[in-house]
Amino acid sequence: MACHGSELVVLQDQATLVEEAAERFLSIAETAVAQAGRFTVALAGGSTPRPVYEGLATEPYRSRIPWRRTIFFWGDERCVPPDHPDSNYRMAEETLLRHLPVAPEGVFRMRGEDPEPARAASNYEQLLRTAFRLGVDERPRFDLILLGMGGDGHTASLFPDSSALEERARLVAATYVERLLAHRLTLTLPVLNAAAAILFLISGREKAEILRSVLDPSSSDSQLPARQVCPRDGRLIWLVDQPAASLLDRLSRGEEGR
Ligand code: 6PG
Repeated sequence: MACHGSELVVLQDQATLVEEAAERFLSIAETAVAQAGRFTVALAGGSTPRPVYEGLATEPYRSRIPWRRTIFFWGDERCVPPDHPDSNYRMAEETLLRHLPVAPEGVFRMRGEDPEPARAASNYEQLLRTAFRLGVDERPRFDLILLGMGGDGHTASLFPDSSALEERARLVAATYVERLLAHRLTLTLPVLNAAAAILFLISGREKAEILRSVLDPSSSDSQLPARQVCPRDGRLIWLVDQPAASLLDRLSRGEEGR
């Protein structure tokens, strides 16, 4: 594995990936609330998290997770209104938030509807500084950040060869993704790598090649965004279903000698 100490868990199929993700989410949430009285989580967008959010909103997780102590943020957002089909907020609201006893003041979405993405990024950064009571050079330490990964190795909205991926001062960046012809808002790499725990959710055979490139220590693709995620003082856990793991060799699976 490229990130020392990271954990790879290969699950039989999507259903077992959902269950493993929900169990990890529950455990991290319970620990955070016990230690600090609240659980701060940044949600991922895209399609992979959908069944995980639906699983969290159903029993046994719906009644076991401390939702009233949970504060929701996003790892990234598309620059669209919150009711747009592409909105990461809308996806999470439909699959998770509307089913939970969550107070509106516990949900901090990125304002993708702002016609000025740079202003939306700056406003979200200020929101993070307030919510985490940050000093000037401090970064927010999320209890958990959920991430997915695209076929080009992007994660959140940190795309290859983008200035957002290189950003080291700001907490939140606005980025224009040429191949999508779309503006995005994203947490920056320093914020991801300040997290206490990161869960990557990777599903499907179409992710097998890129996952091998990201996890293979000998891979030359060191610049792939997802490969640069490595919390300095936190846990990195890859939850991957069998089809997505199908090209991983024993070393990448951490099966030394088995
Ligand atoms: C987004 C996500 C993005 C996503 C990957 C994988 O806003 O789209 O933050 O980083 O996790 O593109 O997407 P899928 O889960 O749909 O494959």
